[in-house]
Amino acid sequence: MLPRHVAVVMDGNGRWANKRHLPRAAGHKAGVNATRKIVENCAKKGVEALTIFAFSSENWNRPESEVSSLMSLFVSTITAEVKKLHKKNVRVCFIGDRSRFSAKLQQSIAESEELTRDNTGLQLNIAANYGGRWDIVNACRQLAAAVRDGSVALDDIDEQLFDSSVCLSEMPAPDLFIRTGGEQRISNFLIWQLAYSELYFVDTLWPDFSDDDFEASLDWYAGRQRRFGKTGQQLIDDQAMQSN
Ligand code: IPE
Ligand code: IPE
Ligand code: MG
Repeated sequence: MLPRHVAVVMDGNGRWANKRHLPRAAGHKAGVNATRKIVENCAKKGVEALTIFAFSSENWNRPESEVSSLMSLFVSTITAEVKKLHKKNVRVCFIGDRSRFSAKLQQSIAESEELTRDNTGLQLNIAANYGGRWDIVNACRQLAAAVRDGSVALDDIDEQLFDSSVCLSEMPAPDLFIRTGGEQRISNFLIWQLAYSELYFVDTLWPDFSDDDFEASLDWYAGRQRRFGKTGQQLIDDQAMQSN
């Protein structure tokens, strides 16, 4: 089975550059090519949503020169890629707190969302200045405000309502989570939304992540039995019932 929603922590750009005695910025630039490939593959295969971690709320802690080279890369990449994505019917959305970005970057973000808003193909969510804890706290604030103004009763707050208040609530949660670069951690990515995702970790550094590597992750995913708390036998029985 093909995942409906894939989420990716694109990690390893810096190490890819270090290995080649290049500046870290060169690794980020090379990473854009791998990103383009996975977007194209997802669109071609009919994956409904791809969510990529481009910049975490913690990445502000990097040296200023790296942060500023990443910011320029975002502006130039959005400018260069969005029209092509639009032609491919991709809908581009950003998640995260964009208020800390420069006016120029905020404008590129808004324009790319506006241009592609009615597209019906792949939904590409770009997590920029995103943090899972920020997302959860944001949802809490929204719900608390709704309780305060009387539009939501305290007793109405349940998992479903909470879920509708976090980012990406309008789509199924990620089925497949991929992290390249060898680390086996979530790094404050979609911590609420990943509760039941299949987690795939691979040593390949992001700029080296190829079509075949993506294919391998999809094959691995297809071999998972997603039990959601049930027993394996129950799933076999359910499937037999459905095919009758
Ligand atoms: C991921 O690659 C890209 C961003 C965080 C923007 P890294 O820059 O984290 O690469 P490594 O982990 O240092 O190799
Ligand atoms: C996670 O990678 C963020 C992105 C890929 C944008 P990091 O490289 O920042 O993660 P940690 O800090 O090593 O966990
Ligand atoms: Mg890293």
